[in-house]
Amino acid sequence: MNTKLSVNINKVALIRNARGEGFPDLVKFAVDCEKFGAEGITVHPRPDERHIRYSDIPLLKEVVTTELNIEGNPTDRFMDMVLQYKPHQCTLVPDAPDALTSNQGWDTVKYGEKLKRIIGRLQDAGIRVSIFVDDNPEMIIGAEAAGTDRIELYTGPYAAQFSSNPEAAVNSYMLTAEEAVKRGIGINAGHDLNLENLTFLIKKIPAIAEVSIGHALIADALYYGIKSTIQMYKSKLH
Ligand code: PXP
Repeated sequence: MNTKLSVNINKVALIRNARGEGFPDLVKFAVDCEKFGAEGITVHPRPDERHIRYSDIPLLKEVVTTELNIEGNPTDRFMDMVLQYKPHQCTLVPDAPDALTSNQGWDTVKYGEKLKRIIGRLQDAGIRVSIFVDDNPEMIIGAEAAGTDRIELYTGPYAAQFSSNPEAAVNSYMLTAEEAVKRGIGINAGHDLNLENLTFLIKKIPAIAEVSIGHALIADALYYGIKSTIQMYKSKLH
């Protein structure tokens, strides 16, 4: 399978917000990422709107021609926005309002009924749904019961262990992915992925349909420029 690269542009919004004006232009950046080879654009509006703002969403929806993926905790405000603008994909994340970044997946057993209701509403609106999960095969049983189209593997712990022991780092992810494939659930992956740890993950789990990458990719772009950086990341996926 060809794993797609979705570029998370949160950090570009963070730089823009630092001066309270419209520069850099987030919408132009998204369009240019697609022009340079990105196969999706990901945004994660948080409740305090410290990077992506809710007002960015309609503008991005209008210009993104690949796939717009909106991530977030399904609060009423988030759900109203997603159902209004209907991105191609919505990734549900159980992040606390004050979380620095997403730091855990759903307990799909404990929150199974809640997830099922939310996933149903999104799917009825024609939106593909992915839910953020830890590297734990048991979570896939709950994910299937909740009716999700895909899971997104939370790869933070993989990235943390990768440099010391890559095989041990990826093992539980392979088991989780195997369980998802068996149940016909698609697989995405994201968090802390970078030019060093990406290829190993994809080689071990070729069923990964999409990775969404923000922090490392935007940081690399400071050195290499966004066009070269996107091409470098894509070369790590094939
Ligand atoms: N997936 C989810 C659910 C996220 O919250 C984030 C960060 O916004 C990412 C992927 C991307 O992580 P990173 O910025 O470390 O590449």
